[in-house]
Amino acid sequence: MFSSAFVFALVASAMAAPSIPPLQQSTRPVESFASSSNARSTLPTRRAIEPTTWDPPSNLVTPLKEAWDHEMSTYSDPTGFRNYGFDQIMATNGSINYCVRWDSDQVSTEADRATIASAIERSVGKWMEWLYGYDAFPFSSIPVTVVGWAVKDTSLLQGDSSGFNVYTDTDPEGIPQCAESCGRFFHQDNNYSGCAAGQEGHYDMSLWLTDGMGDAGAGGDWGQRTSTEYFLEAMHTENPHIIEHEIGHTFALDDFYDWTPTGVTNFIMLAGSATEVTDFDGWMLRNWWTDLIKGRYNL
Ligand SMILES: *[C@@H]1O[C@H](CO)[C@@H](O)[C@H](O)[C@H]1NC(C)=O
Ligand SMILES: *[C@@H]1O[C@H](CO)[C@@H](O)[C@H](O)[C@H]1NC(C)=O
Ligand SMILES: [Zn+2]
Repeated sequence: MFSSAFVFALVASAMAAPSIPPLQQSTRPVESFASSSNARSTLPTRRAIEPTTWDPPSNLVTPLKEAWDHEMSTYSDPTGFRNYGFDQIMATNGSINYCVRWDSDQVSTEADRATIASAIERSVGKWMEWLYGYDAFPFSSIPVTVVGWAVKDTSLLQGDSSGFNVYTDTDPEGIPQCAESCGRFFHQDNNYSGCAAGQEGHYDMSLWLTDGMGDAGAGGDWGQRTSTEYFLEAMHTENPHIIEHEIGHTFALDDFYDWTPTGVTNFIMLAGSATEVTDFDGWMLRNWWTDLIKGRYNL
């Protein structure tokens, strides 16, 4: 069985993933972010989601084409990979269940857990609002539910923990993770018959929070990772931008560490250059829907 940590660890050793489908989305390295004081976003927070078919603003046409061509030519199997965030929401009919991997020695309060749940739903929503009503996208909301918490010790969960499943499972490196039998990453056929929490209690993605990771993150089809410290602070803000960037990876988007598309300088997938999902980011997401995912589901 391949845990997310296993695949994640493949990056450092630059090994090829054996005998599993190409998981380019799973093998992104941990990345650092410029301090948010350096991050700027000159784009307005309110933007038109119109038009609702593929017709990006003229100044974005060229950079979108460049970004798309770059993804198609550098991903190992962009058209064959079937565990993008898009595939996950198509499998659930428009919802996302999360497991929080509490890779932390801190006590988690009931209030913090509620804020974590709303922050992750809000962050997912910053992307999904680009899809609602767009080009045959079949869902008008994507509810996000935290169905599980994986902890080192159940005593770290202060207060009421009856509303979710509590796990003390670990990955092969000893890091808390929810039961593999319940995880989409491990059961891409959506067969959760081995999950004690049932289909309903399965999780699609993990929000993996690690003590001492600083302003770093990682993202892939398995979910998103950043530091406990960053998330506990950023969750009180409108845009926890590191997590929003990582969610972009879950939904197939690339990094831009080695090149920048023509004419765009501030967008969330260009790490550290924007603190919210911008029009360019939104249209990159739409590009995947229109050119690849929509046809995959005959929509
Ligand atoms: C999603 O909807 C389809 C079609 O209505 C149905 O066959 C399928 O069982 C649903 N899947 C889930 C996980 O609810
Ligand atoms: C689901 O998985 C179980 C055990 O892993 C297996 O016995 C069962 O046949 C599978 N069901 C389907 C529909 O593939
Ligand atoms: Zn990245």
